Amino acid sequence: MTRWLCAMASVVLCATAVHAQETPAQKAERMAWFNNDRFGLFIHWGVYSVPAGEWQGKTNYGEWFLEETKMPVSQYMQYAKEFNPVRFDARQWVRMAKDAGMKYIVITSKHHDGFGIFRSNLTDWCMKATPFPRDPLAELAAACRVEGLRLCFYHSIMDWHHPDWETRRAWNDTAPATPPDMERYIRFMKGQLKELITRYGPLGILWFDGEWEKPWTVERGRDLYNYVRSLQPDIIINNRVGKGRAGMDGMDKGAGGVGDYGTPEQEIPATGFGPGVYWESCMTMNNHWGYNKHDQNWKSTRTLVRNLIDCASKGGNYLLNVGPTSEGLFPEPSVQRLAEIGRWMKVHHEAIYGTSASPFKHLPWGRCTQKAAPDSTTRLYLHVFDWPADGNLLVPGLKNSVDSAALLGSDATVRFAQTPEGVALTLPRVAPDALSSTVLLKIQGKP
Ligand code: GLC
Repeated sequence: MTRWLCAMASVVLCATAVHAQETPAQKAERMAWFNNDRFGLFIHWGVYSVPAGEWQGKTNYGEWFLEETKMPVSQYMQYAKEFNPVRFDARQWVRMAKDAGMKYIVITSKHHDGFGIFRSNLTDWCMKATPFPRDPLAELAAACRVEGLRLCFYHSIMDWHHPDWETRRAWNDTAPATPPDMERYIRFMKGQLKELITRYGPLGILWFDGEWEKPWTVERGRDLYNYVRSLQPDIIINNRVGKGRAGMDGMDKGAGGVGDYGTPEQEIPATGFGPGVYWESCMTMNNHWGYNKHDQNWKSTRTLVRNLIDCASKGGNYLLNVGPTSEGLFPEPSVQRLAEIGRWMKVHHEAIYGTSASPFKHLPWGRCTQKAAPDSTTRLYLHVFDWPADGNLLVPGLKNSVDSAALLGSDATVRFAQTPEGVALTLPRVAPDALSSTVLLKIQGKP
């Protein structure tokens, strides 16, 4: 009995210690891959892809379908019978991400509708309710291992289906007459997280969401953070596990912050936040996260590539979303864009991976990323968004002596001269890459 109590006590201590005792250097080590890789794929996939955004003449739904239609939960659950992704090919999904230059995949193990896209032992509201006999997360985990990408899960804290989520919906006709029991819900959620980490892990990230409703508190957030790290100590957890997030800008403000990094949504911060503050902007390619067959408002590949550069130039990551169909296919415009981004990344990847934020406050013509070399030189990657028609480009205020200047993916000569205003470059008249062209400037010392 005493031994058992001691063992329990040390588990509890260890769980709280994880959060409290990490030094900034230890955190930096845990965050190293995230900070290096910069680019990930977000996937929103669930039974809402069956109605595909449409209900009773309205065509603007996505993964919030259940909440927005206020359909009885029992009726929504019928969609699971049509969720039959016979064309799902995990290897193909992972390869599309990899070829785009993405290094990690964050997929919705469970969204707000509570449906798990795996085979859970703790509920039938998961793949077990579909005609599909396989486990997509098991297949994705295997494919990620083979292809060398990190698998990560988005897991919703809020749950519109589970009767014990305290702000139970009035249209949840599957709930019993007894009131919700939030502690029982938390045990269920932790149980599923344990299934996810022990079966499909080690994972890269646990990406929580739906933390804004009242039943979720900062204490519960801390407890969940510690619990997840006790299952996998080196896992990374986003800040939506806590209560500190201030709206869509996604960064923690004031008290209530828990988690390892900020999560701007559909926006990129105006500037970075300096070393030691980690963040990742998540963004859709069209207007919806979940599959919507009517939504053809696609961002151009050029915008997507420049968003990635923008994030990297501010020391952050870019998490770009795809909403697959209920058959298990990426929409064709997403496939195209991933391939085009991949062609750009093949030439320019060194200007993204392992870089740090721009040393310039502002550049009139684009963005900059940089990499320090061990020999005390620095590589400046100048991402020229507005290519100068006369070929003259000033790198304002740069005083360091320049070793060399070249274009990525082009043999054209780049001449350089130090002037009192900064380094003056002479570029070819035509930009070598229509999406974004990069000048690599090797300089002495730190800029
Ligand atoms: C929002 C939405 C959700 C989406 C998420 C992605 O918080 O609730 O549907 O999954 O953003 O960041």
